[in-house]
Amino acid sequence: MPAVATTQVAIIGAGPAGLLLAQLLHLQGIDSVILEQRSEAYVLGRVRAGLLESPTVEVLREAGVADRMAVEGVEHHGIHLRFDGRTHQLDFAGTTGRQAMNYGQAEVVKDLIRHRRATGRPLVFEAEAVTPTGFESLDGHGPAVVTWRDEHGEHRLTADFIAGCDGFHGVSRVAIPPGTITAAQRSYPFAWLGILARTRPTLPEVVYSAHQDGLSVHSMRGHELTRQYLQVPADTVLDDWPDERIWTELTRRHAADDVGPLATGEVIDRTLAPLRSVVFSPMQYGRMFLAGDAVHIVPPTGAKGLNLAVSDVSVLSHALGGYYAGAGSHHLAEYTRTSLPRIWQAELFSWQMTTMLHRFPGDEFDRGLQRARLEQVVASPTQIAALGELYFGLPFPRHWSFRD
Ligand code: APR
Ligand code: PHB
Repeated sequence: MPAVATTQVAIIGAGPAGLLLAQLLHLQGIDSVILEQRSEAYVLGRVRAGLLESPTVEVLREAGVADRMAVEGVEHHGIHLRFDGRTHQLDFAGTTGRQAMNYGQAEVVKDLIRHRRATGRPLVFEAEAVTPTGFESLDGHGPAVVTWRDEHGEHRLTADFIAGCDGFHGVSRVAIPPGTITAAQRSYPFAWLGILARTRPTLPEVVYSAHQDGLSVHSMRGHELTRQYLQVPADTVLDDWPDERIWTELTRRHAADDVGPLATGEVIDRTLAPLRSVVFSPMQYGRMFLAGDAVHIVPPTGAKGLNLAVSDVSVLSHALGGYYAGAGSHHLAEYTRTSLPRIWQAELFSWQMTTMLHRFPGDEFDRGLQRARLEQVVASPTQIAALGELYFGLPFPRHWSFRD
């Protein structure tokens, strides 16, 4: 007989989406169980992007999980855009009055796990064969069910709702009957090779170098580590890129008349990620709600992925809060309609940044347009403010009337 338990919200996946949702629910007195297939060490060791929009920073503060970020995060006031051997400083704070934060996703996840532990509510790692069922109707009777297995045996959890926060390759979205959800998508003919290195950042903010051989990005993790990326062909194999080759290429693309040479050092971590854009819709089926990478992917240019996960669970936590406060399932039923417009704004922004900054296979006309776009973006405070507003993050959707 499997061990049986009951909760209000079963959360599948302990990435930023699942962990933050659990915390936002906890603050409203709502119980949840988080089920994660990987080990805690694996989840903590995953190196990903680290640029937090200002609304994301606000939600993390409101959620009470921003204590370490306040000390170790590095405030960002803009970006640097480098092309044709010159660096342009785009002062977004000066033109928008807002700021962003550079703080690695791994750190956000670490903080969220620590705070989850402090609540005493369940967080299960190494849950195998997680299977959601019984969620087909939003107002139906009988609970949704999630089963899984671990070293102690088989488990069965009943819940009012299931939150599918299990990333692009998770089980939640694919558990929804075929034909219910549609995908709108684009792929790009390149990938990002990313490194985490023990070198000091050359500038205190992100630098995008639109080099004729491809984009390079120079970012940071605190003041002692850098996170850097290279545009590489989609079929790249990491083993073909020893450290020396990575540094040579980064140095070449980073070079400009107005900067010193790039510092090189120990490479601590390397990743390879394909670029794609995907939006699945609707984001809900019955009592299953999808959030984060489980329901949309953005290319990494502009680092919107984590921020979108945060805006999704912000909306979802309020809709669930409304339900448990007695406002019915109206806000839950509106989850997709509330969330999608901002998701598409982020998709548009990520696609535009990707198109503006990468080397594409196109012809001279394409390159002329690309260069014109770069010159346009740096041309006036109005243009810089327009980009800055999107880069630092549009306000999160707030259509829930129970809160007004
Ligand atoms: N059962 C349980 N957990 C699962 C399963 C499964 N079958 N499949 C995946 N998971 C877990 C993954 O191991 C991962 O820890 O779900 C979690 C999903 O986390 P993320 O991939 O980090 O996705 P999300 O929380 O939506 O955060 C989005 O992560 O991928 C980046 O760029 C993205 O920054 C963005 C952020
Ligand atoms: C990062 O810091 O990892 C980062 C910064 C800017 C991007 C993408 C990633 O556009």
